[in-house]
Amino acid sequence: MPLVRAAPVPAGAGGTTLAPRAEPDVPRGAGVGAGHPHGVTVAPDPPPDPLAGQSPSPPPDPPPRPSPSPPAAGPDGARFRQVLGHFATGVTVVTSIDEGGPVGLAVNSFTSVSLDPPLVALCVNKTSTTWPRVRAIGHFTVNILGADQEAVSRTFASTTGDRFHGIGWRPSPSGSPVLDGALAWIDATVEAEHDAGDHVLVIGRVTGLDISREAAPLVFYRGGYGRFEQ
Ligand SMILES: Cc1cc2nc3c(=O)[nH]c(=O)nc-3n(C[C@H](O)[C@H](O)[C@H](O)COP(=O)(O)O)c2cc1C
Repeated sequence: MPLVRAAPVPAGAGGTTLAPRAEPDVPRGAGVGAGHPHGVTVAPDPPPDPLAGQSPSPPPDPPPRPSPSPPAAGPDGARFRQVLGHFATGVTVVTSIDEGGPVGLAVNSFTSVSLDPPLVALCVNKTSTTWPRVRAIGHFTVNILGADQEAVSRTFASTTGDRFHGIGWRPSPSGSPVLDGALAWIDATVEAEHDAGDHVLVIGRVTGLDISREAAPLVFYRGGYGRFEQ
């Protein structure tokens, strides 16, 4: 079942950019040692100083504090993309619709999460202009693209033009566009949104889904399109 590669797409597709990670904050008073649980020893109060109040001698210098260790250096953005690009994915177009008309963007970070309850997830760049509209609508449809829909993927990743121009679609049960030619569609409501660096991690609760046709999927791999042959 070889993967057939096609022309690479311009750098930047995938919407993933690298931001340096901050060291996780450990809240004061929380975690190991707080409230001396689990065998943590608490030092007794020091004995009273017999010279206290008798001498104006200056207080001793505090012990030297260890300098904080620098945050671990992460990979640069190009390396991150290069390595993570070895993870082959499918390609979807996430759609929704409001009074302004249909909206959609190409997404390859889509994945299933949970069967009970039925949950899916995707990661959306915080720079996305479409996602705030989808969030406001509160539900979306994930269209899984076929191998013959590379042009559709490019259209829905483009920043110019009307993405729905020349694109046939019908409404899903929730009303969002199911694109002609998509292999399958999944309706979901926005269940949760988590901050995730330069992206948001969106959890969707599946409210409907179906397969439209059995055909080879569009594959995204090492920055280019391909297809999965059976
Ligand atoms: C194959 C492919 C996969 C993509 N996957 C994602 C993704 O998972 N998340 C994301 O935010 N952008 C992704 N993008 C980029 C967006 O589709 C692109 O930035 C789009 O212009 C965003 O449009 P918007 O500003 O209208 O939201 C992908 C692009 C391509 C070509």
